[in-house]
Amino acid sequence: MAQQLTQTATVLVTGATGFIGSHLAEQLLHDGHSVRCIVRPGRRRPSWIDRLPVEIVPASLTDVEALQRACHGVRTIVHVAGVTKAKRRRDYVRGNVEPTAALLKVARQLPRFDRFTYVSSLTAVGPSPDGRPLTEDAPLRPITMYGRSKLEAEDLVRQAMAHVPVTIIRPPAVYGPRDRDVLEMFRWVGFGLEPLIGDPAKSLSLVHVHDLARGICQATFDLRGTGKTYHVSEPLPHSFHDLVGLLGEIVHRRPIRIRIPLALLFALAGLVEAVSLIGPRPAVLSLDKARDMAQPHWVCDPGRIQAELGFQARVPIEEGLRTTFEWYREQGWL
Ligand SMILES: NC(=O)c1ccc[n+]([C@@H]2O[C@H](COP(=O)([O-])OP(=O)(O)OC[C@H]3O[C@@H](n4cnc5c(N)ncnc54)[C@H](OP(=O)(O)O)[C@@H]3O)[C@@H](O)[C@H]2O)c1
Repeated sequence: MAQQLTQTATVLVTGATGFIGSHLAEQLLHDGHSVRCIVRPGRRRPSWIDRLPVEIVPASLTDVEALQRACHGVRTIVHVAGVTKAKRRRDYVRGNVEPTAALLKVARQLPRFDRFTYVSSLTAVGPSPDGRPLTEDAPLRPITMYGRSKLEAEDLVRQAMAHVPVTIIRPPAVYGPRDRDVLEMFRWVGFGLEPLIGDPAKSLSLVHVHDLARGICQATFDLRGTGKTYHVSEPLPHSFHDLVGLLGEIVHRRPIRIRIPLALLFALAGLVEAVSLIGPRPAVLSLDKARDMAQPHWVCDPGRIQAELGFQARVPIEEGLRTTFEWYREQGWL
């Protein structure tokens, strides 16, 4: 029997201008919560967040005083904002670790506080060495700067546990409308290509963003989620080859496998990264990203959230990929 927290106070969401945060804001509204979104001052907001009936508060996520003002009347914080691509370690720390520290400091001072949920990542755990899906108790061995920064932020959340009720959510690869990573895969397959890096038996866990948003809400508003870490994903991983096959069916192409040798990947990543150092934005490909792409198995086991909270991913992969493709087409992204 679910033990729900009574949630009449405002829920504060960070990262709501992004892919996961915007879907989370929609799910919270759907569940009847009032939602306040902290957004970066001076940034253009995408239309999907602008049209939602949420309160928008511009504030820097490292400005404790501004956060204190933004958190007035808040009893729940879901911290989604994060940097997934950066040029240097310090940018990951600034984007993933420092905002988490500032928000936890503010949460500790709130007079009545129910939950701080941190959206981490499977990269904080690292890849599976043998293809077996990793549970929440697996040793934490991140292999990228991004993963290490997410783990550092998780450590701050665990340290705060004595003073703040916390939950950590670790999604694997997330897909759905507004995501740009699976978009790239659709583009490759649309050209008739299956790019294979490393092991032909590569596997990965996935979660549709609607399922993830539901999982985050379920863990946040259930008392049994207090102090817990959950892997939120589909029940079973997919082989990379099967996924490309599904994408091929959707775009009516039969992709030809092209092997990209690891040496070529890293040489290209080094080059792209060096060039990107002089530009304003991090490049899509970097040595950090190449380390991630070279791993055979990014797989996790959602057994704990299924057993403890009754969570089940509902979106079948075929339907999730097809509706995502249709969304890309409607938006003119494909
Ligand atoms: N997508 C995935 O497959 C995946 C998988 C596992 C975990 N995650 C985690 O989920 C979270 C959201 O990912 P996403 O895919 O939704 O990314 P996204 O679309 O790039 O959105 C990132 C969000 O974080 C905000 N943000 C980034 N740096 C910030 C800063 N320094 N100050 C304030 N806001 C900042 C962005 O705001 P602006 O709009 O102002 O840039 C945006 O709202 C991240 O923490 C990521 O680590 C993602």
